[in-house]
Amino acid sequence: MKILEDDRDKNKRADPVCGMLVDKDSPFSSEYQKKDYRFCSEKCKSLFEQEPELFISMQDAREKFIESKRTEALKKMADQLTHEIRNPLTSIGGFARRMLKGLPEDASDRKYMERVIEDVERLEQMVNRLVRFEPDQLTRESSNINKVISEVMEVFDEIFRNNKITVRLHLQEKLPPVLLDRGKIKSALSNIFKNSVDAMDKEHRVLEIKTSVAGKQIVVTISDTGKGIPEEKIKYIFDPLFTSKVYGPGLGLAFVKEVIQAHGGTIEVKSTVGKGTTFKIKLPLRRRHES
Ligand SMILES: Nc1ncnc2c1ncn2[C@@H]1O[C@H](COP(=O)(O)OP(=O)(O)O)[C@@H](O)[C@H]1O
Ligand SMILES: [Mg+2]
Repeated sequence: MKILEDDRDKNKRADPVCGMLVDKDSPFSSEYQKKDYRFCSEKCKSLFEQEPELFISMQDAREKFIESKRTEALKKMADQLTHEIRNPLTSIGGFARRMLKGLPEDASDRKYMERVIEDVERLEQMVNRLVRFEPDQLTRESSNINKVISEVMEVFDEIFRNNKITVRLHLQEKLPPVLLDRGKIKSALSNIFKNSVDAMDKEHRVLEIKTSVAGKQIVVTISDTGKGIPEEKIKYIFDPLFTSKVYGPGLGLAFVKEVIQAHGGTIEVKSTVGKGTTFKIKLPLRRRHES
């Protein structure tokens, strides 16, 4: 089910004129503003050379359109999956709990039932990560983002220590309050921290967290010195089920994006392979009339 990294053909690219997939080393090539373009035929090549700007902008529009359709389809699939899995899971979990209660304290089957319950809970958590949030599904309270970050840091304290990660906190003092669903924002931050821990397998392991105010927004920046994300993969990392890990499942960042967007915020990522990755979250400040 995972959309693994090697699913995409790295040796093909789209002809900017007709959109067909062509080999990276197709003989029909043209250079424009120091970029190399490849075509399926002499005809496409000569059309491009007559109006390069036009075809480049058409190609951008086409890519954006395909991207949005793909994200839409993935979200739809995730919605259906959630819907189909949720009800049976609830009954399996419910019945298993009931059966466990009915078993005598010394029954040897207790450990199996406990295992079923644990696994169901794990699946329930996974399904919950696929859920798309609407702003009205959040329980928002006026919160200090620094405090929320500190609370998550406490939970990660041991993980950071065990993984020899140095944490640098640059939390701006006296930040104005933001309306947050603290539970969901904490889960979102935990997902980002967890990914950073996974990515930092070299000697130099630093996680830096900054908060600041920019205009009418609070900005939270999380940078790690991990292995980074290759350019061709970066646009997929927020997709549900995209993962480069054996035990994925590739739902962390899809959840993070849903949560941030439901808060009216945005999340951006910048990454350099071998150097590290930075996530920038922007959350709207509380407006005056909001209670
Ligand atoms: N800080 C990071 N450094 C390097 N790669 C990252 C980082 N965060 C996310 N990624 C990439 O994005 C993918 C998707 O992340 P996520 O949605 O959390 O799923 P998962 O962690 O289950 O793979 C990861 O598999 C990894 O390839
Ligand atoms: Mg993850």
